[in-house]
Amino acid sequence: MITSFYMPTRIVSGAGALGTIGTLARDLTMTRVLVVSDPVIAAQGFHAEALAALQGAGLIISRFDECGIDARCSHIDDQGGRVRREGIDGIVCIGGGSVMCTGKGIAIVATNDKPMRECTGVGRFDKKALPMIMVPTTGGSGSEVSQWTIVKDEERHLKLLGGGPLSFPDAALLDPVTLRSLPMHVAALPAVDALTHGVEAYLSGIASPLTDAVALAAVRLQYASLRAAINADDDRAREDNLMASCMANVACGNARLGHAHALSLPLEGHLDLPHPYGVGVLLPHVMAFNLAVLPAKVKPLAEALDVDTMGLSRQEMIAASAEAIRALYADIAFPEHFTADQLPRERVREMATRAVPGLYAGIAAASYDPATATDRTLIACPSARRMTVRQAEEILERCL
Ligand SMILES: [Fe+2]
Repeated sequence: MITSFYMPTRIVSGAGALGTIGTLARDLTMTRVLVVSDPVIAAQGFHAEALAALQGAGLIISRFDECGIDARCSHIDDQGGRVRREGIDGIVCIGGGSVMCTGKGIAIVATNDKPMRECTGVGRFDKKALPMIMVPTTGGSGSEVSQWTIVKDEERHLKLLGGGPLSFPDAALLDPVTLRSLPMHVAALPAVDALTHGVEAYLSGIASPLTDAVALAAVRLQYASLRAAINADDDRAREDNLMASCMANVACGNARLGHAHALSLPLEGHLDLPHPYGVGVLLPHVMAFNLAVLPAKVKPLAEALDVDTMGLSRQEMIAASAEAIRALYADIAFPEHFTADQLPRERVREMATRAVPGLYAGIAAASYDPATATDRTLIACPSARRMTVRQAEEILERCL
């Protein structure tokens, strides 16, 4: 099998990294930047410090602080037009996954001059996105090193992925100061998403020894630091958490994401379930499903999840790995199941059929008719094991 590994984003990490943002922007030849954020982050002291550093380096700043829970196509298209009109030549994102996905979408639309919807799918635009600097404020999405943006098409109730080698961020600044203001219940969500990224990259059918090494190290670091990063006032753990989520995305950016993300997508699009709940609740189930066909990967993953594998059979290691994730969820107050509101039982079959196009179909998913799916239809997904609609339905039922 031919595999490739591409990671052009410069990663600057550690306490104080945010102070380099002005110099970094100048290095990237930015002169006039759009700073993308959300109302909560825009009120933080570190946001003001970042703006001051940019201004101190001579940059002219425009702002868009209105990102919400999802990156919305309407925001991206509006701001993409604004960027062209105002001659903005760089995008700086300070925020979590939806902020970075919004900013990345703006950077794509600004140079390609077509609506975000038409840029979704894999490599569906041909001009390099505007230069981007990403400052993640959650240890989670990993979008700061990802070529992909995940956006919501509000009209069609679809979550769509778009991107390619032309939309990698140019730089990521990982500074634990940005995580300090996060309440515990907020910090847990993206951290679980990041853990899912690492595990899914490791269980991918297109994983390589290179992606496996990064993915496994990311899972190990994330699992070891997550409780302290969320429950304790521990800057070092937060720094590890940020780095682990970044590493997980370096891995899944190349090995891609699997069944947790594919099955979560219709829940997010049609039932408005927040992304981390969808992938996190699914994670132990899809992990066990895929490990069944990856015997050589069972023990390394179990050990990365801090399981004592001594004397355990392979089957027991898989069960213990799922249990290690559930124990972590209990400690960080993350749910193990969907509520009846999040996923009504009567909609499980529909959601399984809607998952068929998978994460990477882009706008092509809009022309798929779920009524054409049968029990044996396969979910489009790069995970190591093939999953049918019937199996997806069974897994979703186990999540209730
Ligand atoms: Fe994710």
